[in-house]
Amino acid sequence: MTAIKPEVISDPRVLSERLAEIRRQGKTIGLVPTMGALHDGHLSLVRQSQSLCDVTVVSIFVNPTQFAPGEDYEKYPRVLDTDLAQLESVGGVEFVLAPKPADMYPEGFDAHVHIGGVTRRLEGEFRPTHFDGVAVVVLKLFNIAGADMAFLGQKDYQQAAVIQKMVRDLNLPVEIRVCPIVREEDGLAMSSRNKYLSPDERRQAPILKRALDLAQKMISEKVTDAAKIKHEMRALIETAPSSAIDYISIADPETLDELESVGGRAVVLLAVKIGTTRLIDNVVIP
Ligand code: PAJ
Repeated sequence: MTAIKPEVISDPRVLSERLAEIRRQGKTIGLVPTMGALHDGHLSLVRQSQSLCDVTVVSIFVNPTQFAPGEDYEKYPRVLDTDLAQLESVGGVEFVLAPKPADMYPEGFDAHVHIGGVTRRLEGEFRPTHFDGVAVVVLKLFNIAGADMAFLGQKDYQQAAVIQKMVRDLNLPVEIRVCPIVREEDGLAMSSRNKYLSPDERRQAPILKRALDLAQKMISEKVTDAAKIKHEMRALIETAPSSAIDYISIADPETLDELESVGGRAVVLLAVKIGTTRLIDNVVIP
């Protein structure tokens, strides 16, 4: 991959113009939306875009509308220089959109995007305004980039489901690719929020993955009672002294409706606080 330096653009209109020209040349555009503090999970999406699209655009924007008051908007890591150095070393990223909040939400901005169905449960229950913020910013990013494909991580399973539903319900001309979860060696799913964990909490954090492994093992041993599986997962997670469970769910992979019995395909999802850091993870049962 050519080690090009990405062109960093803060004004969405400037990026739109540059990309319109690229589209006129018949080239395809891949978009990787992020909030920065990039890690190998993000970079795996970038590589996937590079392999399928002619031009890759990465957006780096800590989107204020998806954080509720009291969440971590202010303390969310902002490390643009390190992010750009990482993208440069991966190579092959033509553009980085790094707007300021006022570039995305200028004075007088007053639009709302609400996707129903899959937004209601799980994250939607614990963070009721979250997916409206995600939907509005992702729709803006799709329109700004005019992307042919957008690359999302399975790490945020419900977010990917919401965005796929938005694309279907609103006939957006973009193809969504959901890419596998990239993990640390001990199983912890990579996340920009892992930086918040103290050394002691970091040692406890792989309990999420261990609970998902346990669920997978029970299902492979033909345990079908979802309540029983969730009970065992809960007991395991509670052995981590700093853990507090928001939810454990075994759900239909498309609708995210809770399953009572696991027969065919399912997704096991969880959200657990380790200290004050809220972590999410999931596994799809084929
Ligand atoms: P962020 O948390 O920065 O994640 C950006 C993308 O990287 C998401 O699609 C996410 O699922 C993916 N990702 C994160 N950790 C991953 C991992 N360990 N393995 C694979 N992919 C991973 O998600 C957001 O930002 C925002 O909500 C956004 C979509 C950018 C809208 O603001």
